[in-house]
Parts: sequence; structure tokens; C-alpha cells
Amino acid sequence: MAEILLVDDEKSVRTTLSLMLKRSGYQVEEAVNGEEALKMIKAHFYDLVVTDLKMEPVDGMEVLRQVKAANKTTEIVVMTAYSTVESGVEAMKLGAYDYIQKPFDKDEFLILIKKALERKDLISEVEHLQNELREKYRFENIVGNSNAMMEVLSMVSKVAKTDSTVLITGQSGTGKELIAKATHLNSRRKNRAFITINCGALPENLQESELFGHVRGAFTGAIKDKRGLFQEASGGTLFLDEIGETALSTQVKLLRFLQDGEIRRVGENEPVYVDVRLIAATNKDLKKQIEEGKFREDLYYRLNVIPIDLPAVSERRDDIPLLAAHFLKIYAERTKKNNPLISPDAMKYLMDYDWPGNVRELENVIERAMILAPKNVIQPDDLPAALLECERKPVTETQTLPGGDQTLEELEKQHILMTLEKYDWNQKKASDILGISTTTLWRKLKLYGIEPKRKEESLVA
Ligand SMILES: Nc1ncnc2c1ncn2[C@@H]1O[C@H](COP(=O)(O)OP(=O)(O)OP(=O)(O)O)[C@@H](O)[C@H]1O
Ligand SMILES: [Mg+2]
Repeated sequence: MAEILLVDDEKSVRTTLSLMLKRSGYQVEEAVNGEEALKMIKAHFYDLVVTDLKMEPVDGMEVLRQVKAANKTTEIVVMTAYSTVESGVEAMKLGAYDYIQKPFDKDEFLILIKKALERKDLISEVEHLQNELREKYRFENIVGNSNAMMEVLSMVSKVAKTDSTVLITGQSGTGKELIAKATHLNSRRKNRAFITINCGALPENLQESELFGHVRGAFTGAIKDKRGLFQEASGGTLFLDEIGETALSTQVKLLRFLQDGEIRRVGENEPVYVDVRLIAATNKDLKKQIEEGKFREDLYYRLNVIPIDLPAVSERRDDIPLLAAHFLKIYAERTKKNNPLISPDAMKYLMDYDWPGNVRELENVIERAMILAPKNVIQPDDLPAALLECERKPVTETQTLPGGDQTLEELEKQHILMTLEKYDWNQKKASDILGISTTTLWRKLKLYGIEPKRKEESLVA
């Protein structure tokens, strides 16, 4: 429900307008003059402020300036009985949505309010749509068809539909942030903000003001009011990364938010209600931290409403070929390489390695190999020493297919490419080895969009 602050020094005007707005379903608060309005906008974040222009000693223009300074997204409608067109235009220059001249009729007023609020929604929606386009996170960016990942993804699609707090656990590099974003982007909040805070990266004394905001003078260095990330995330999702690193004092405040939905800016007693969904992540064992007195047990249970535990890569080896192919494609585009491949030998090393750094490590290994591989084929030599040193099991015991989980078409394409690479793109030679005619090879190259690297007279005909 939209929250509106109504500012007018005339009681009768306030009463009439307030009643009108409430009947239309808005939540309305009143300020009896400019001074009171300034106090109220600091304590609370309104969607819309409707203010009289001519007031003493703080006038509507000043209210307008301060509202915009406190929160750019709050819309403002000014009204005045003394309106000259100039003061209305002046107000719009300062960022007011529009002005209305008293006396006005009820419908005209309500339509204006509705439009102002629509613009506010539209602006924040456009902003977040743009962000979304920039980082295309959705399920299609999440690779994996191991049972373990399937369970995770079905959990994500279920929790995305709710507003419940989610706690994502898993070793470093398993994709916690990716899953948090996917949860947001598949939720009704998808067009609103997704704000991340890495609790571990912030010193204890800054955590609270960063999260909840502060008022001017709350502590040395607080030279002006600051909006916290909770307000930035309003209507959207706040992702608390490395939640295990939050200070105990911050934990108390998080708990209060989870219990009552309210926060307090540092240096202020009045609570502010915010509509934010929390997703937290950690690679720490929170149970152990509770035992050590570093994490509040009550907060743990509040956060852990829906737990999602991400499996380590070593627990889902089936996903390795898919992940490798995924990153191969990404880095092929970036390094402008055409149809790169991973040789079966190199793939065996990838399959056998333990991946302590999980998906992130795998991604780095592929990126590095793409730069190192002299041709388009990643060979064991292009892999880091750590992988090559790892104890290799005989292939027969690993139960994994040399080509990974791929379709016949993909395998055929890869095999053709490998053969061509091996024989230096001599198509006659390659077709002999493959046991097909040169015409068939030529047709398959076209089918798979493979650019021949050498033109051969024998095939041009
Ligand atoms: N299933 C997956 N499919 C595709 N890419 C993935 C997958 N899981 C992780 N990634 C990629 O791996 C990298 C690391 O993932 P992410 O940052 O989400 O991990 P994390 O668990 O938050 O790690 P940390 O604990 O170190 O913060 C990112 O580039 C991410 O896009
Ligand atoms: Mg992370």
C-alpha cells in the first residue's frame, strides 16, 4: 500500500484530503507544518509527499528540497492557493511531479495522486529491468543436471514464490550468490532491487549504518543522513552474504527486523517499516559459531526458515562436463576462439580432480586453459599443475562417459572438430579417418556451422 505524507498548515484541508486519500486505499500521515514534515521524512520513507507551498517558517519548497535530498524516489505533488504558474513550475524544476491549484476538485486531485505513484513504480521498475538485462541471471545460467542440483533448483523455484527468509549454505565457490539472485529473479520482486552486502567485508562499526542507515550526528563522521541498504532494497530482496561475519550487535537488529519487519536508523528511536525479503548465505558452520558464542541462536532459527545447501562439485561430478562446456562457451566468446574443445585426456583430469574451490575454480581453470591452449583444443598441458598431480583413477572405475553427458550430435560435432584439428584441417585426410566421404564431411560442417580453416581444391568443386 502506498504511503503518503500530507503537509498543510490548515487543519480543515488536511482533514478533507486525508479522508479522501484513505478512502481511496492509501496510507496517510499528516504534518501540521513544514517543520514537522521535515522531521517525518527523516523518520520514514514515503512514496509520495503532498505539500502546501505557502507555509511559515518552513515552506513547501524547502520540504520539497529536503524530500528529494533524503530519497530521490519519493514523488512530490505541491498545492497552493496562491499559485502563480511560476511557483508551480519552479517546484517542478526542483523535482516535483506536478502542482495543483486550490481549490481543486476531488477527482482531479485523486487522478494526480494516482499518476504520481504510477510514475514512482514505473521508474523503479525500469531501473531494475535494466539491471536485470545487464546481468541475465535466471535458471538458464545455472548449469547442472545432477540429482543434487535438480533438488536445489526445484527448491529455488518453490521458495521463489514465497517471501520466506532463505539461508543458503555451501562451500566457497559453489554458487551461493548465483542461487540467491535466481531466487530473487524468479520471485514477484524480480523487477525491484536485489541488493548485496558482504557482511565480512565491513568493519563492525560500519555494518549497522550501512544496513540500516543513520541520522546526521549519530556518530563522529555522520555528517548527513544516510539511507541504509534495507531502504535501498525496499520492495525487493536484500542478500546478506557471509552472514556468519556479522557483529553480534548487528545480529540483534536483524533479529528485530525478522520479528517485526521494522528497522531503526542509527541514532534514532522511531522504527521504520520496510518491505524487504532477506536471503542470507554462509560457508561457515553456523551451528559451531553458535556454540562459540559468535552467532545468536534465535537469529539462526529465524534465518533458517528455508535452508538450501549447495553440494560441492566433488559431490556432483556428473555436472563437471556440463560446467566445463558452459565456461568453454563463455570464454570462447570472450577470447574470440571458434569452437574450442576439451580433449578427452584433459577431460579425465577435470573429472578426477577434487575441486576444493568448486565451480569458481573450474571456471578459472577453463579460462586459463583457453588462453594457454595453442590451438583450439585444451590438452592436459594447459591445465594447472594441481590438477595433473592429483591421483588418477583408472577410467573403468570412474563410471563416467568420456564425452560426459552429451547428445550424439554434440559428440559428433566435437569428434569431427577434433579430427580436423589433429590433421591440420586437411579435410580429405579427416574424412578418410572418419570413414565418410568428403561430401558428407562438407555437409556436416555446414550443419554444425563449422568454418573450415583451409580451403581445399578437392572439396570446392
Ligand atoms: N551451477 C552453476 N552454473 C553455472 N555457473 C555457476 C554455477 N555455480 C556457480 N557458478 C559460477 O561460479 C562462480 C562462483 O559462484 P558464486 O559467486 O555464486 O559462489 P559462492 O558460493 O557465492 O562463493 P563464495 O562462498 O566464495 O562467495 C560464479 O562465476 C558463478 O556464476
Ligand atoms: Mg559468494
